[in-house]
Amino acid sequence: MVLIEQLLTTHEVTTLRQRLDQVPWRDGKRTAMGMAADVKQNVQADSDDLVVQQLSLSLLAKFGANPKLVSAVLPSKFFPPCFNRYGIGEHYGFHVDAAVMRIPSSIDILRSDMSMTLFLSEPDEYEGGELVIKTEFGEQRVKPRAGDAVTYPSSSLHRVLPVTKGIRVAAITWMQSMVQDTHIRESLFELDQSIQQLLENDNVSREILDNLHHVYHNLIRKHAVI
Ligand code: NI
Repeated sequence: MVLIEQLLTTHEVTTLRQRLDQVPWRDGKRTAMGMAADVKQNVQADSDDLVVQQLSLSLLAKFGANPKLVSAVLPSKFFPPCFNRYGIGEHYGFHVDAAVMRIPSSIDILRSDMSMTLFLSEPDEYEGGELVIKTEFGEQRVKPRAGDAVTYPSSSLHRVLPVTKGIRVAAITWMQSMVQDTHIRESLFELDQSIQQLLENDNVSREILDNLHHVYHNLIRKHAVI
């Protein structure tokens, strides 16, 4: 699980929320596949609406330009982000996201390697509503700031706890990675993050950094499937 802080600025979140207040919302069960529909209770911005599509596209541009997101996911395809809202009593029980998805209005198929939730409500706007992800180290609960995003393997069981007060708004997307193997992808991310940290250390020689960059890019070349 990777936390991407302030993927959107406070100002961007506010603008987005204002526009989302004016679009049509539909029962979330309409877009849940199979068993997920039984445990899904929320509403989703109507993805047939032109304004919703525009907002979704503007998020895609932000996602693709975020260095930490790109490093963690190494994305080759994004599913257009969807917007969801949980009011009091609404929740989404444990489920695994669909493995393959057709990108709307295209024949393109995406394999969901990583899922991402972008929080659009401040944690003090609602009670409950934590995103819970089952990992090999136990359950992780997250409720970050508005504008923060969390990525996690689409294969992991996850849920959204019932909201008990206020409203929780979020955007979600699914991403196909150039590197399908989760462990290799995680190692590449760790390597890149370490290189970024070394870049800020004046005592590290240019030669060593060049070497590490070299290794990183050659590993990407070896493992990336486009
Ligand atoms: Ni999900």
